Amino acid sequence: MDKKATLTLHDGKKIEFPVLSGSIGPDVVDIRTLYGKTGVFTYDPGFLSTASCNSTITYIDGDAGILLYRGYPIEQLAKHCDFLEVCYLLLNGELPSAKQKGEFDDMVTRHTMVHDQLNRFFTGFRRDAHPMAVMVGVVGALSAFYHDSLDIDDPEHRKISAFRLIAKLPTITAMGYKYTTGQPFMYPKNDLSYTANFLRMMFGTPCEEFKPNEVLVRALDRIFILHADHEQNASTSTVRLAGSSGANPFACIAAGIACLWGPAHGGANEACLQMLEEIGDASKIGEFISKVKDKNSGVRLMGFGHRVYKNHDPRAKLMRETCHEVLNELGLHNDRLFKLALALEKIAIEDQYFVERKLYPNVDFYSGIVQRALGIPVSMFTCVFALARTVGWIAQWQEMIADPEYKIGRPRQLYKGAPRREVVPLAGR
Ligand code: ACO
Repeated sequence: MDKKATLTLHDGKKIEFPVLSGSIGPDVVDIRTLYGKTGVFTYDPGFLSTASCNSTITYIDGDAGILLYRGYPIEQLAKHCDFLEVCYLLLNGELPSAKQKGEFDDMVTRHTMVHDQLNRFFTGFRRDAHPMAVMVGVVGALSAFYHDSLDIDDPEHRKISAFRLIAKLPTITAMGYKYTTGQPFMYPKNDLSYTANFLRMMFGTPCEEFKPNEVLVRALDRIFILHADHEQNASTSTVRLAGSSGANPFACIAAGIACLWGPAHGGANEACLQMLEEIGDASKIGEFISKVKDKNSGVRLMGFGHRVYKNHDPRAKLMRETCHEVLNELGLHNDRLFKLALALEKIAIEDQYFVERKLYPNVDFYSGIVQRALGIPVSMFTCVFALARTVGWIAQWQEMIADPEYKIGRPRQLYKGAPRREVVPLAGR
């Protein structure tokens, strides 16, 4: 049976709209004909109740704490797959066979080098620039280096651009880091895995052989998997909106990186680490929690709460596990900040304030501690997030371009400015 929703306008006129159902999740009221039929728009800044597209990539049930990529639970993907398998899944809809995985990994590996002239592009930046500022610039500049894959109507061009972006982001991220430290850029090494290669480009030097630690490689690979996609979040919606005009994929991903940079989005793990440093000691937790509960203080428990998850963030549980593994491996199980984080988490999840508001630890509560233990500087945390999210952005961009219903994104507004008035020439004002 076709579902319908009826809207009654102020003059009593009733209009019916189709209600569309997805495979799981809430139905949506299809209001595309609303303006044509009634002359009114809907008003939903912040998209609190608006689905901006249909998608088959990622599903979140925030009340139940569920995250699925192409139908597969994040817990199973984190346990059984590596990041490139997850990339294949997000891009193609299915997990690869062993043969497909081999071909895919090979294709990514063979696109990891960047145009040599890009090395000189880096030197135009100040060495003390924020690494995200450099990343936005360099990724945007890729369209000036790879003219041969910019035709978005050609599926082969789209595919090559996708490989280039996934493959080159680790190289570009590591180059950004090396540039700030004054060390030479490290070229990628093809016999290493995607993630081991990134660690080598970050922390290796030409002077000695870099031996990747498998536990740390696996931990970073898991960070990449957990951040690979998260449906229509702010940066993904930015990529889609930028791409809806037909802009090239390198420019679109640069737009996504710019959006991710904001502290309300990608910057929370950095803020969480700063908060732990500020608390400093377990004896100060009580005092800090009282401040958080005091609405006048403006203090929030960073790494807690989420717009969509009103239950445990499934990624947080996995990141907590990884945190234990990494700290054990590095002999840091007595790490001051980790112990403090555990004590803070225990107190907060039992406290009525957090229970009533359904505030649970999110992925950022632990990811900063893991990255810090891996030796990644705090200013690079959001770059690592961007590296991992690139595949999600591309998968969503590809899906949009291939969608027969795809149109340029063009929101409307509720105008509250001056009505028409006449210009008084300067002499008369
Ligand atoms: N600490 C203390 N109180 C909080 C927190 C927090 N971290 N988060 C929400 N609350 C309280 C609010 O004060 C509000 O209380 P009230 O009902 O008494 O007024 C209630 O919980 C609801 O909060 P909102 O701000 O309305 O929730 P919203 O969904 O808009 O915000 C957000 C979600 C921004 C993530 C928020 O929980 C927050 O600021 N958390 C800390 C920052 C953080 O960790 N962000 C990372 C998100 S995960 C990611 O981006 C990968």
